[in-house]
Amino acid sequence: MKVTVVGSGYVGLVTGACLAEMGNHVLCMDLDERKIQVLREGGLPIHEPGLLEVVQRNVAAKRLEFTTDVDAAVRHGTLQFIAVGTPPDEDGSADLSHVVAAARAIGERMTDYKVIVDKSTVPVGTADRVREAVAQALAARGMELEFAVVSNPEFLKEGAAVEDFMRPDRIIVGGDDERALLLMRALYAPFVRSRDRLLVMDVRSAEFTKYAANAMLATRISFMNELALLAEKVGADIERVRLGMGSDPRIGYSFLYAGAGYGGSCFPKDVKALLHAAAVQGQALRVLDAVERANDQQKLVLVDKITARFGADLAGRVFALWGLAFKPGTDDMREAPSRVLVQQLLARGARVVAYDPVAMDEARRVFGDNPGIRYADSAAAALQDADALVLITEWREFKSPDFDALRTQLRQPVVFDGRNLFEPALMRAMGLEYHGIGRSA
Ligand code: UGA
Repeated sequence: MKVTVVGSGYVGLVTGACLAEMGNHVLCMDLDERKIQVLREGGLPIHEPGLLEVVQRNVAAKRLEFTTDVDAAVRHGTLQFIAVGTPPDEDGSADLSHVVAAARAIGERMTDYKVIVDKSTVPVGTADRVREAVAQALAARGMELEFAVVSNPEFLKEGAAVEDFMRPDRIIVGGDDERALLLMRALYAPFVRSRDRLLVMDVRSAEFTKYAANAMLATRISFMNELALLAEKVGADIERVRLGMGSDPRIGYSFLYAGAGYGGSCFPKDVKALLHAAAVQGQALRVLDAVERANDQQKLVLVDKITARFGADLAGRVFALWGLAFKPGTDDMREAPSRVLVQQLLARGARVVAYDPVAMDEARRVFGDNPGIRYADSAAAALQDADALVLITEWREFKSPDFDALRTQLRQPVVFDGRNLFEPALMRAMGLEYHGIGRSA
C-alpha cells in the first residue's frame, strides 16, 4: 500500500519505517529540512534502538523515502498518517495547530479518496476537527471528494518502539467508514497474530482509550511511589510488596516500580491534557489530579534524601549523577526527573558530575553553559572525588558496578538509588551506605 506519514518525529518515523518493513511504500514528510536532511544522509534525528537498521534496510529497498514537499506527500499515500507533535498549551490542553494544519494541507491538495489517520495523541473530538478542516479546504476549492478520518493511537514506549510496533499488544482503530476500516485491517494484518488484537471501535472511544491507558499507567506509578514513602516509615520494603501485589493476576507486575517519578513526553503531557478535558466538561478527575501532584512531589524525593543526609546547604558538595534520560534506552530528557534534581542540587550550592550513556548531548542542550554541571566520560569517571553517587536512570550498564571503586573513589561511600536498581543488602555488604526508594533499612 502507499502510505504517507506527516511528521517525521519519534512516532512518525517508527510508524513509517515499520510499515515499510512489511512491504508498504512509505513517504515520510516533515517541514523541518534539517531533520529530513539527516534522514536522507542515512542518519536518525532521534535515538531509538533498532530503528536505524529498519530505516536503512527500507531506504535501500526503496520502500522508504523522505521529503519536505507537501504536494508530493499528499499525492503519494491513500493512507495519510498524521503524526505531528501535540505539545501542551499553557493550560495543559493539547495544542492541535499542527494536526489541523496537516489536515488542511491534505484537503487543499487531494485529488482522490484518502484515509486520514490520526496517529498523534489527540483529545476526544479531534477527528471531527480534522474532518472539518479537510472538508473546508475541499469546499474552498469547490471540490467534493470522498475521504475518511480514522483514529489510530500509538502505544509505543521509547527505547522499545520498534519492538512495540512490530509486535503490538493491541492495535486500536476508531472509525466508521467501511472502506477505510478494510484498508486499515489490511495494513495491520501482518502485525497481528490473532484477529482480536485489532480492536475496531468508534472514533471517540479510540481517542479516549489512549489517554485512559496512559493515565492508568501513571496512576499505578504514583500510587506505588506514595506507598514506597509509607513503606520506609513503617519498615516495609516496597520491592517485596511489589512482588507480593503483582502476583495477583488482577494487579499484574508491570508499571509498579517505585522511583524518582515518571517523566517523558507522554505521561506528564497526557495526564495534563485529560485533566484539562475533564475540567472543560465541569468534571473533576480527583484521582488523576492527585496522581499529577504526587509525581511533582516524587521528583523531589532524591533531593529530600540528600538534604536529610548532607544538610540543606550543599555548598561545596559534589554529586556524581548516573543517568540523565527520563528512562533507559533513549536520549530523551523531556520532563525527566534528572532536570528537577540537577536544578535543585545546583540551587543549594552543590556541583554535579553527570554521566549518561546516550543523553549527554541532550543534557548539554538542556542545561546550557552551566558551570555547576560537568560531564564525565564514563560512569566510573563521574565518581572521582564526588561526595556521593545519585542514580536516576536505570541503565543496564549501571546495574553491576565496581563496588570497590564506589567505596574508594567517592569521598563518602554513600549511594542514593532513585530507581531501586541495587539490592540494599548487597550494597551494605560491600560497605556502602545505601538509600533507595521505599526500601527497608
Ligand atoms: C508511555 C507508555 O508506556 C506507552 O504505552 C505510550 O505509547 C507512550 O507513553 C506514549 O504515549 O507515546 P514512554 O513515555 O516511552 O511510554 O515510557 P514508559 O516506559 O511508559 O515510562 C514513562 C515514565 O514512567 C519513565 O519516566 C519511567 O521511569 C517511569 N516508570 C515506568 C516508573 O517510574 N515506574 C514504572 O513502573 C514504570
